[in-house]
Amino acid sequence: ESIRIFSPATVANLSCGFDVLGLCLDTIGDEMIIRKSDKKGIRIIKITGADLPLEIDKNVAGVAALALVNAYETDFGFEIEIRKKIKAGSGIGSSAASAAGAVFGINKLLGEPFSGHELIQYAMKGEALASGNEHADNVAPALLGGFTLVRGYDPLDVIKIKSPEELYVTVLHPHIELKTSEMRAILNPEIKLKNAIRQWGNVGGLVAGLYTSDYDLIGRSLTDYIVEPLRSKFIPGFDQAKKTAIENGALGAGISGSGPSIFTLNKGLKNATSVNDQLKEIYQKNNIPFETYISKV
Ligand code: HSE
Repeated sequence: ESIRIFSPATVANLSCGFDVLGLCLDTIGDEMIIRKSDKKGIRIIKITGADLPLEIDKNVAGVAALALVNAYETDFGFEIEIRKKIKAGSGIGSSAASAAGAVFGINKLLGEPFSGHELIQYAMKGEALASGNEHADNVAPALLGGFTLVRGYDPLDVIKIKSPEELYVTVLHPHIELKTSEMRAILNPEIKLKNAIRQWGNVGGLVAGLYTSDYDLIGRSLTDYIVEPLRSKFIPGFDQAKKTAIENGALGAGISGSGPSIFTLNKGLKNATSVNDQLKEIYQKNNIPFETYISKV
């Protein structure tokens, strides 16, 4: 018995929501094949598309899968094959896709004893291995789809958020690699009250805008006073890309997860496509190799 799944890439943070907001991309993701096996435990038998360790305790899919089977006794085991399409260090949740895919697939083969919400805590164990921190803002949208908010971590409280019909996201991935662990290490653990006030105003504004289909409010809320100023300098062309996106009618633009990918949110596919074309032009002119994706949110 086996299952083949598509495990989606995700955009975390969405400017104002560091570690709490995320959304699922439906046009880029990994493929995973998970098989029941007579031998107990988890085995990663093959990974194509990336040079990643097969050892269970060194692999995010392995760690997440193990956390799940440790919580649910079975007299059989699982073999996992991963076809990586999402590049490591791209900022669109490569490790989250592996972790979320592993627990999602195993749960299906077990007859779905766990809900999507319950699977998040196991997938987070894989994220901890990849970034040194159990953040759920990529695994939650990968498992639940759409837009998600991590209202709290202790205890974990994840809410799936409605989003308007015509909301599209673009992602441009410039081909440099930024490690999430390093991009977290450069952050300042102390923030100014003035910035905190502006930031939580924006998180509230963004969620309200998503629920009421108020695209202007969504746009006004897509500003990050805390993380983006520290990380954006590691991303070639970021300032120009953001400015160009907004000048061309994007609702907002920012760093996808810990970068280097840059996301924009747009009203309508037509606007998303034209913003995406403008950004492509910048990177072509600057001779920086890249990939782009457009998804409906
Ligand atoms: N919220 C995390 C970070 C996402 O920005 O470090 C990493 O993909």
